[in-house]
Amino acid sequence: MFQAAAKTLSVASTSSVSRAILFSLRHYCKKTPTKLRVSEALSGAELGENVKVQGWVRSVRPQKANLFIHVSDGSSLQPLQIIAGSELNDPLLTFGSAIEVTGILKKSPHQKQPVELEADRVRVVGECNPVDFPFKIKERHGLEYIRQFPHLRCRTNAFSSLLRIRSEATTAIHSYFKDNGFMQIHTPIITSNDCEGAGELFQVEPSGPVHEEDEHFFSVPAFLTVSGQLHLEVMSGAFSRVYTFGPTFRAENSQSRRHLAEFYMVEAEVSFTESLEDLTKVMEDMFRSATEHVLAHCAEDVDLFHKHVTPGHRDTLDAMVKKRFPVITYSEAIDILNSSSQKFTFPTYWGCDLQTEHEKYLVKHCGNIPVFVTDYPYDLKPFYARDNQDHPEHTAAAVDLLVPGVGELCGGSLREERLDLLSARLQEVGLEDTYSWYLDLRRFGSVPHGGFGLGFERYLQCILGVDNIKDVIPFPRFSHSCLL
Ligand code: 4AD
Repeated sequence: MFQAAAKTLSVASTSSVSRAILFSLRHYCKKTPTKLRVSEALSGAELGENVKVQGWVRSVRPQKANLFIHVSDGSSLQPLQIIAGSELNDPLLTFGSAIEVTGILKKSPHQKQPVELEADRVRVVGECNPVDFPFKIKERHGLEYIRQFPHLRCRTNAFSSLLRIRSEATTAIHSYFKDNGFMQIHTPIITSNDCEGAGELFQVEPSGPVHEEDEHFFSVPAFLTVSGQLHLEVMSGAFSRVYTFGPTFRAENSQSRRHLAEFYMVEAEVSFTESLEDLTKVMEDMFRSATEHVLAHCAEDVDLFHKHVTPGHRDTLDAMVKKRFPVITYSEAIDILNSSSQKFTFPTYWGCDLQTEHEKYLVKHCGNIPVFVTDYPYDLKPFYARDNQDHPEHTAAAVDLLVPGVGELCGGSLREERLDLLSARLQEVGLEDTYSWYLDLRRFGSVPHGGFGLGFERYLQCILGVDNIKDVIPFPRFSHSCLL
């Protein structure tokens, strides 16, 4: 604003008063440089202007007359190059130190970067002892190594790229739902239901007694949610298309590369849905739209992963985005597994639960692209899954999406909307009283409906080719882990 005013004045007036104002404005402009993010500076904003940039040193290269510093503030993978006279060198200017630089932003003569900052001042805001700092300049540390430092790993290129991709993928998923008429619902974190019925629950109670006469803080035992599905089903009785995207908890005693105790799940529920195809279409469209968005908005970060962290994965990802996802039934899947020459650790037979090794085999068999498996044995699925009422096999209208490198990414089903059948099943498993409110949804204006859940961390593993789920979440929680 001041620069614009100064320019106008310099053209419009030559009086001594105006010259004095012009002088003060220029002086003011020089004293207060425009604060820029590194990404803004790299985009060429404020070229030729006095600017201030703050960030962390990625490299320092002293030469005879000049000092070259790369500074990064997390806004982009590419750092900003600073050129400073050697008199501005400071022994505290080391890899990892926090600095503030002011100077003039100029077009760079070098091809590698569009602009550079010619510094007139470099201030070390926070020192970083390079000997003690666990990351070393110019070294490419593996994901496993940096995982040991959950409080510092966001300072590495690989993990900062991951976090930018994660953030952009979150935006993409919300956009997909918004563009397709879904309403977002904040489903509760604390609940009394075990939607999946697997008993993998974390119980919630106050750390100290609240009322001595009460057993529980709430009037019933309370748990951290294992799924927002049942609450979404409530809302789908009024809004037709709803979704939720939030933290989900499973007390699985697993150290596997695809399980966490706390993870993020995207769940959608669609009313007036009578076929699994309606659901698989939403799953496939969401996957493709989110992935295309990430590729368009985080190209550099995705490239870093595919070049240095998970080489060779780009072709797999391109195939996933381009090709339609095949659909096979569970029975066909069992036939494929039974006729395979591969020796599996877990035996395969009609009625068996598919293990990760089976899921990965099926994905490879179908061309190493995501594959839908439908119509699972009725007895394998939770009480809410819709009975296909078929013979001699007895299946439920359930679907899983299996993806390369990970196995199961999404689980979903049509829901049992028929009051008599649902009521009989709940009675069978002794849950009719617990879920009397759920039965009300079938008593009052019940419609055919269905939905699914997608594990967000597994989605990131799948598009980036990352082997361990702990490397795609800011602060992983799993059994026997230390918490930060
Ligand atoms: O298959 P799940 O258990 O399905 C449900 O919870 C349904 N109620 C969802 C729904 O229909 N609304 O879980 C859905 C997905 C899995 O396919 C998997 O990707 C992910 O959640 N998931 C986990 N991700 C990380 N760590 C764990 N421990 C996970 N458990 C499930």
